[in-house]
Amino acid sequence: MSDRAEAGYSSTARLFHWSTAALVLVMIPIGIVMANANVGAAQDTLYHLHRSIGAVLLPLVLARLLYRLSHPPPPLPAGISPSQRRIAHATHWALYGLLLLQAMVGWIATSAYRAPILVFWLLELPPIWTIDRPLSESLFAVHRAMGFALLILIVLHIGAALFHHVVLKDNVLRRMVRG
Ligand code: HEM
Ligand code: HEM
Repeated sequence: MSDRAEAGYSSTARLFHWSTAALVLVMIPIGIVMANANVGAAQDTLYHLHRSIGAVLLPLVLARLLYRLSHPPPPLPAGISPSQRRIAHATHWALYGLLLLQAMVGWIATSAYRAPILVFWLLELPPIWTIDRPLSESLFAVHRAMGFALLILIVLHIGAALFHHVVLKDNVLRRMVRG
């Protein structure tokens, strides 16, 4: 088959992709539930989990971005139009940028609020901002807006991946799953 000849993502790129994807896909629902629903005694646990996973995501996304900058991905299949390529690239860079910003804003806002960031109850991340409740509130509003922007991009992204696989029947999803 002709698409067999095309290169896939490296195993490192795939490990980065699927570990980030899994963590982000649990972060968003945890964030929405903990901030908007009353779940009694579980509330504190959800906050700790959200901050803990966020503290893992920040270096993970940073490492992934550094890897991506030094390892260009395999070229897209030939049949994809220039405008589709631009949309794919824009979405991917927006995802990288938003994820980094989201984690940084979460850390700064939590520092300004002065809540502890107990990473999986094992170690405490230091605050990186002085106590400033009004700033913390504004930053959490930004965090909420970026969370929804991320959610929309991810839905489009997953939709595009499925569209390639099911409708176009090309190797775009396969090269991220099997390399
Ligand atoms: C890329 C990683 C992250 C994602 C995708 C994410 C996503 C979200 C989402 C969707 C919400 C719900 C917003 C709302 O409905 O009000 C939220 C809330 C929150 N996030 Fe994150 N977050 C991330 C990283 C972090 C980090 C690193 C911290 C802190 C260390 C953090 C602290 C919080 C807090 C404290 C809230 C609750 C804000 C409130 O009570 O209004 N987040 N996050
Ligand atoms: C079930 C969910 C997901 C599926 C099926 C999926 C599928 C894919 C596929 C097929 C590609 C390769 C596209 C190409 O070859 O150009 C890709 C790339 C990418 N995905 Fe996902 N993805 C998922 C979730 C996520 C999530 C949650 C994120 C982050 C929030 C994410 C971020 C990215 C990024 C940044 C790239 C670009 C990689 C590069 O630099 O080339 N993906 N995804």
